[in-house]
Amino acid sequence: MRAVVLLLLVASAYAKVYERCELARTLQANGMDGYWGVSLANWMCLAYWESGYNTGATHHDTDGSTDYGIFQINSRWWCSDGRSISSDACGISCSELMSPNLSAAITCAKRVVRDPNGVSAWVGWRLHCEGRDLSSYVAGCGV
Ligand SMILES: *[C@@H]1O[C@H](CO)[C@@H](O)[C@H](O)[C@H]1NC(C)=O
Repeated sequence: MRAVVLLLLVASAYAKVYERCELARTLQANGMDGYWGVSLANWMCLAYWESGYNTGATHHDTDGSTDYGIFQINSRWWCSDGRSISSDACGISCSELMSPNLSAAITCAKRVVRDPNGVSAWVGWRLHCEGRDLSSYVAGCGV
């Protein structure tokens, strides 16, 4: 029981579900609006479909790698989790991508989008955001 409580405390230190406008303002303050040609509404839509704005989100892929955090960044290419072989192009521990402080996740997402695939690297963006009216993702946020 004590172990369970401890685990919950540890997990909560790495998880925050952002409120929509709070996330929009945080991304804007960190230079995401228009970064590599990707508007703030596109980043917001991407984050919504990838993680539901939850920094604690993880998804295990069939190749043994894992997607981490608000942008669901993958351990095979971008971060190191000590479990799968990784190129670790962002040069960080995957757990940093789950911090309520989005600094590391934003820096790494900027690295991902600079790759040749650009924003298409995110399946959630391709399926739910590409070519759509995304104004509702930033509406009323003052951004
Ligand atoms: C988030 O982390 C960055 C980098 O470590 C730091 O500069 C910044 O002050 C932190 N922001 C908050 C709100 O704690």
